[in-house]
Amino acid sequence: MQENKNVMIMDHPLIQDKISLLRDKETSSKEFRELISEVTMLMCYESLRDLPLKEVEVETPLMTAKTKVLAERHIAFIPILRAGLGMVEGVVNLMPTARVGHIGLYRDPETRLPVEYYCKLTSDISERDVILLDPMLATGGTAVDAITMVKERKPRSIKFMCILASNQGIEALTKAHPDVKIYCAARDAALNDDCYIIPGLGDAGDRIFGTK
Ligand code: URA
Repeated sequence: MQENKNVMIMDHPLIQDKISLLRDKETSSKEFRELISEVTMLMCYESLRDLPLKEVEVETPLMTAKTKVLAERHIAFIPILRAGLGMVEGVVNLMPTARVGHIGLYRDPETRLPVEYYCKLTSDISERDVILLDPMLATGGTAVDAITMVKERKPRSIKFMCILASNQGIEALTKAHPDVKIYCAARDAALNDDCYIIPGLGDAGDRIFGTK
């Protein structure tokens, strides 16, 4: 894993292999959905490395063992609609007791600014560590706004998890929210004129839901 203060790039060989399949335009919608789930699950595993543990004793068939379990499970995953939905299966497979909130934002085609149209979070968000989910961190506009919206509800902490991140997106997000750690699987250098990450993997929402 490559790491600096704010950005963790999870470039494990298993993840890189799946990213190559995600990038491939010949990958079907079904395969794409499955791959997004698999990559997200692998990333989630690493992004929860700092979960607190507590010591307990269990009786093995032979004797008492001092061992560790999660001290708490106060996690809320918040997919950003619509493409973030594709990442939910992967995270809840790993943390079935986590809460899942939803945030809907879209990019105004003329102003290119994010517009909020939906926000439903768990009522005990102030007691939870939030992980926001969006497969693509492109300009960073949506992510910055989604984090601002979540911060207004005062969660304990926020992390941002995406599959691909552009340099521009990382820069925008770290500038606006230096306290939020970004977890991504690959970092691409550029955006095209339509604000798509290049080389990227295309429109993640369309490829997840087969709407192209
Ligand atoms: N959203 C996508 O789905 N793809 C991109 O490349 C950028 C934003």
